[in-house]
Amino acid sequence: MPRLFHARTLLTVLRTGNPRARLRATRDAQAAVRLHLGAAGLATGVLDAVAAGPGGTTELARRLGVADEELLGAFLAVLAAGGLVRGDPAHWALAGAGRAVVGDDLVRATYEAFAGFHTGLYRDLGELLAGGPRRRDVAEQGGVIARVSAAFEPFVEDVLREVVAAAPPRRVLDVGCGTGLQLATVLAAAPGAEGVGVDVDADAAALARRTLEERGFSGRATVVQDDVRRLTGDRPFDLALLANVVYYLPVQERAALLADVAARLAPGGTLLLVTTVVTPQLFSRHFDLLLRAQEGAMSLPAVDELTTALRDAGLRPREPRRIAPGAPLVAVAAVLPA
Ligand SMILES: C[S@@+](CC[C@H](N)C(=O)[O-])C[C@H]1O[C@@H](n2cnc3c(N)ncnc32)[C@H](O)[C@@H]1O
Repeated sequence: MPRLFHARTLLTVLRTGNPRARLRATRDAQAAVRLHLGAAGLATGVLDAVAAGPGGTTELARRLGVADEELLGAFLAVLAAGGLVRGDPAHWALAGAGRAVVGDDLVRATYEAFAGFHTGLYRDLGELLAGGPRRRDVAEQGGVIARVSAAFEPFVEDVLREVVAAAPPRRVLDVGCGTGLQLATVLAAAPGAEGVGVDVDADAAALARRTLEERGFSGRATVVQDDVRRLTGDRPFDLALLANVVYYLPVQERAALLADVAARLAPGGTLLLVTTVVTPQLFSRHFDLLLRAQEGAMSLPAVDELTTALRDAGLRPREPRRIAPGAPLVAVAAVLPA
């Protein structure tokens, strides 16, 4: 198509405002459209339908039970412009980028989480600032939160294996064990060890039992559904794991939790704390805001706050370490003096 604008006019347009801000706004807008396009491609089932077998718009409308075929055609054209599908109204197929979305649960969960509650936070922020009801994402979106967090799992596993190799534990406590994957990693790395997973959430506890059973650890592991602060049992643990849990507790309850877990350690035992911390990074601040907007006084801890609380609990914290590239995810191992 021939060009009809002059470079001079383009310059005038850019000069009437802040060119950098205008370009940035345009880039952000395009990223937002791409995010919501991918999310809608998944939420509507259109990408999965095309993945199940190429077809024309009419055929796809039939398979999906779509009433407005014309709108579906326009949506498929957007997906094509966004590089997720290719073809034309007579024959749509998945493009390489579309296959990568459909076939990777982490990508799927990322679209779902970020087009959903992560950005929903900002859509509803005015209402929240006006004193409206707090959000319930953590309570209601546990599944997708766990799927997105899976991205960091390999880094956490590295740390777990390193801690186990340095001091092989006989008894392991996993506080807030979630799906039980980390307890399974520890039990695999420490073949003689027994483990107790505790999680206050019934679904998480059930999931952890299933994970441990599937991995062949039911003989060496018990999962208790309860608040760790009510956990009874007198035999001490050599290793206690507290991964991605502290920020769910109000600041004023964290020191007591750490002291409570420290009190369950045998002399020389290790408490391994893994958590996202507050840093000046955009994602860290965003996550902190998301937590503060929830019901239940959640917020990201600062590294110093953690090391102080660990010392106050009678432990000797080692140097906190960043464990995943580009993410404010930190591990601190703290030892109970023998
Ligand atoms: C984000 S998940 C982390 C799961 C797992 N540790 C991981 O890193 O993947 C946090 C878990 O801690 C549990 N939790 C929070 N406070 C708890 C408490 N006081 N006692 C036991 N579990 C708790 C929640 O139910 C949730 O399953």
